[in-house]
Amino acid sequence: MYDIHCHILPMFDDGSESIDESCAMAELAFQSKVKGIIATPHCNGEDLMDADRFRAMCDMHTTLRAKLAERDIPVEVYLGMEILLDDSIYEPLEHDALLTLNRSNYLLVEFPFDDNPDHVRALLKAVCLRGYRPVIAHPERYDFVQSDPEMVFEFLDREYVLQVNRGSIMGRFGDNAKRCARWLLDGQLAHVVASDGHSATHRTPYVFDCYQYILSKYSVEYAEVLFHENPQRIIGNRPILPNC
Ligand SMILES: [Fe+2]
Repeated sequence: MYDIHCHILPMFDDGSESIDESCAMAELAFQSKVKGIIATPHCNGEDLMDADRFRAMCDMHTTLRAKLAERDIPVEVYLGMEILLDDSIYEPLEHDALLTLNRSNYLLVEFPFDDNPDHVRALLKAVCLRGYRPVIAHPERYDFVQSDPEMVFEFLDREYVLQVNRGSIMGRFGDNAKRCARWLLDGQLAHVVASDGHSATHRTPYVFDCYQYILSKYSVEYAEVLFHENPQRIIGNRPILPNC
């Protein structure tokens, strides 16, 4: 299995606080049968225009990979970002100063939870105009989706990728997110499940309980698409499978 959304790169955001914690997170991922993780630190428009920060992220990625190899933790870590889409994004977009998921065409994006639908539409359109394919992080957590879930059909028509969080499915983010996440699964509308892991002790990268839940409630085929096939296709910059 592969995890395309995880805050495992240490000391860049509210995720891992040290190399040791990142190694512990990778160990947990390995225990849940994950063999590859994309590190996706939060980045806003200001972060993206900071070339020193970008270089430091790349250096830390190299350091983390070396440390995992040294400690015999067999998890590959790729680099990406979780990009906050707000009005500060237009300048980095113009300069292509964004890092996609493992340098693919897929860009992991998030929004303020209380953003309004027209603003979201405009930002996503701007991302597409620059040639990126948006992967919408945890659609089930936004007010604009919870109050109008049918909005996701518009996203699907535009070929945006829908990434649901393991924590939402398992009830960690409240009833509204859980209901919405399970509605997305019931309709086989979700393309990917990811951990959105932030630490080795809470919001961890352990996903096997969620894999088993989806396997028992839906099918082994859908579980494989969500946790393995589509994440692997994104890492390899190949088209994801269409919705059933
Ligand atoms: Fe995240």
